[in-house]
Amino acid sequence: MRSLIGLPARRAGSDNASPAHDSAVGHVTGRASYIDDLTEPSGLLHLAIGLSSRASAGLGRLALDAVRRAPGVVEVLTAADIPGHNEVGAVYPGDPLLAEGEVRYAGQALFAVVATSLRAARQAVALASVEYVDRIPSLDPVEAVRQGLTVLPEHVQCRATPAPLDRTGVLADDNGTSEQRHAGPEGDWRQALEAAPHHVEGEQFIGGQEHFYLEGQIALAEPWDDDGLRILTSSQHPSEVQKLVAEVLGLPLHRIVAEVRRMGGGFGGKESQAAALGALAALAAWRTGRAVKFRMPRETDMRFTGKRHPFHNRYRIGFDDDGLIHGAEIELIGDCGHSPDLSEGVVDRAMFHADNAYYLGSARVTGHRAMTHTASNTAFRGFGGPQGMMPIENALDDIARRLGLDPLDVRKRNLYAPGRDETHYGQRIEQHLIQSLVEQLERDSDYRTRRQQIRQYNAASPVVKRGLALTPVKFGISFTAAHLNQAGALVRIYTDGSVLANHGGTEMGQGLHTKVCQVVARELGLPLELVRISATRTDKVPNTSPTAASSGADLNAMAAREAALTLRSRLYAFAAERHALAPDSLALADGELRATTLEGESFRLDWAALVQQAYMARVALFAEGHYSTPKIGYDKRAARGRPFYYFAYGAAVSEVEIDSLSGEYRVVRADILHDVGESLNPAIDLGQVEGGYIQGLGWLTSEELKWNAEGQLTTVNPSTYKIPAFDDAPIDFRVALLEGHPNSEVTIYRSKAVGEPPFMLAISAWAALRDAISSIGDYRLNPRLDTPATPERVLFACQAMREIDMAKTPRVAAQVQT
Ligand code: MTE
Ligand code: MOS
Repeated sequence: MRSLIGLPARRAGSDNASPAHDSAVGHVTGRASYIDDLTEPSGLLHLAIGLSSRASAGLGRLALDAVRRAPGVVEVLTAADIPGHNEVGAVYPGDPLLAEGEVRYAGQALFAVVATSLRAARQAVALASVEYVDRIPSLDPVEAVRQGLTVLPEHVQCRATPAPLDRTGVLADDNGTSEQRHAGPEGDWRQALEAAPHHVEGEQFIGGQEHFYLEGQIALAEPWDDDGLRILTSSQHPSEVQKLVAEVLGLPLHRIVAEVRRMGGGFGGKESQAAALGALAALAAWRTGRAVKFRMPRETDMRFTGKRHPFHNRYRIGFDDDGLIHGAEIELIGDCGHSPDLSEGVVDRAMFHADNAYYLGSARVTGHRAMTHTASNTAFRGFGGPQGMMPIENALDDIARRLGLDPLDVRKRNLYAPGRDETHYGQRIEQHLIQSLVEQLERDSDYRTRRQQIRQYNAASPVVKRGLALTPVKFGISFTAAHLNQAGALVRIYTDGSVLANHGGTEMGQGLHTKVCQVVARELGLPLELVRISATRTDKVPNTSPTAASSGADLNAMAAREAALTLRSRLYAFAAERHALAPDSLALADGELRATTLEGESFRLDWAALVQQAYMARVALFAEGHYSTPKIGYDKRAARGRPFYYFAYGAAVSEVEIDSLSGEYRVVRADILHDVGESLNPAIDLGQVEGGYIQGLGWLTSEELKWNAEGQLTTVNPSTYKIPAFDDAPIDFRVALLEGHPNSEVTIYRSKAVGEPPFMLAISAWAALRDAISSIGDYRLNPRLDTPATPERVLFACQAMREIDMAKTPRVAAQVQT
């Protein structure tokens, strides 16, 4: 694996500098504190929850007397003890904090025990006895949609019948289903699809994914500031923790403070679902008047919290002799679990990415939000985008093999290009760099030569087979809920010249705080050491958006820059007057003020001296900044508009080697070229690209979630759920950032968001596995390869290929996609 050590550590504050993550040393030495590392407040109590063992049942008697009598137990809480609303749903109701009347998934919280020690709390939980009136759970999302069982956003339910469909499409989602249509030059999608000379169609199951953040979900609540509460939370969305705690307790928001110093990973799993922990700890602290900590064993965390949505996808694509797509019909079923949570946005984003980087001609994309009795599925890196891209990538390989073409040629032919640049939801592609990016990667990775070598190798190797695939990524940047695209920041200069910044974003390892410090340092011309970030707190910057949708730096660094610019102009105005300087000559650089006096002489003043003088002259040395993303707007009802400010691009070539008799495989090599515009911090961005690819690889290959027939999750710890380890990284891993292509939109220093887009580069590894498997049928047949493509699934796919290749009977052929 190529390491980052070779990167030049350029001067902090200069363009493209790569200072280390502000907690890099703390992370590797263990000195960076997470909530569970902090010195415990005196009298701290611990909380544990009792979980439903049933996926769907009426809730009968909860017998908790033995729990109450258990040693160390201070308080036992049920829904009846909640003074405000028993509800922690992020967008729509549907997530009671503690079950009331019924249970909707195995793992749902029924009651909470507060005790003097963690052990006492957990042991007491086991003494409860619960009466259930069993119901038949909904566990199959496809069947659920057939029966109309979907998670229903209220505003959609209430909506009047949509206007009749016109040619350019309308969205009809009064039953948990939405639709996007695009009529290309070929006209109506159905006509275009049917008129095309050839068709492929298929179906795929795309598995979910457990977040497996290294630091599990945790919250610590304590009475604070007379009649308030402070909650330390491992959350990507402290403002939502604050709001939901306030609602659960029936208190105004200004009595609650939520604080996040850092998370040991969030990956979307702490966007909405950290709130339940904060609310339970707060409820217990409120009732007992003592500090309460709530953290869960990994097994409880995995049962209690939602995951990436599994998807069932269907597609039918019409194309011509060159493999050019004329029309497409794509249907996506997202398994949302028992409640809406963030599923409206997740399925929207899946639909927005059904084209990935390709012009689909006239297309219809339909998204369903299936309700099943499992934990409520939630945000996870890519937010539905990855699942939405899978059908078209599947289809392009099918098309290539049907026509006997190299899949790369078919992909390149269908990429967005000038004139073929309108998405199925009406947004135009303005920055055309995916073609040149793919071509550059094709050259740099030596794709054509390796394709030939692999074909030769496979022809001579009956058991071990190699596969190769290049897949692109186009990922939309902005929250699809427009109001979230705003941020605030606060920058303070102290009298010694040191600077403290604060903003609404949270740090989860992605390097956001480092990037924001770099921006403030650059605007004030300071060495990075002079700028520090304090914990994210709802009483410093209010009403913040979640740190999500990869937009942390886009939003918060812009807000921090605004604040820094305000301070800079104040200091300039002060210094110009005090020292009679030419107004246009002032500059802050390298820790000093440089200017020319009105008499034309050069002038220099040390930063600390400047700050001292400004303070003595009563200049305000703190400022706030606010930013909101321009240009975006999407009409959900018409299913048209510009949901995204811009797109981030990337491409990857993966090479795999499979043992076709055991199904075992390795990723031998991966080459990545990824677009981050003008990088804010190349070392951190490379880390995001590498990490994203590996996490995507886990999703598509080894991470398998299993539920039993009763709807209980059976993969609940690392012994049964396999995330990628060091050894699963590509043996030869070559990662580069695309250079020389600043963002065509105005973003912070023309950079691009990087958190999520690289996740989907791993689709190339899955496509390479299919390529290797199809070599068994001499690249003429298309294996069905659901995900995760575990060795077991790869083995079955190889066997299916062999049987068809030998028998060539239509009956067996039906097992593969045509
Ligand atoms: N990187 C690390 N190390 N840890 C994380 O939890 N989360 C990802 C991505 N990269 C994550 C990460 C997700 S899901 C998102 S949306 C972005 O980081 C959020 O941060 P950003 O907006 O600052 O990029
Ligand atoms: Mo990321 S899934 O938007 O938290």
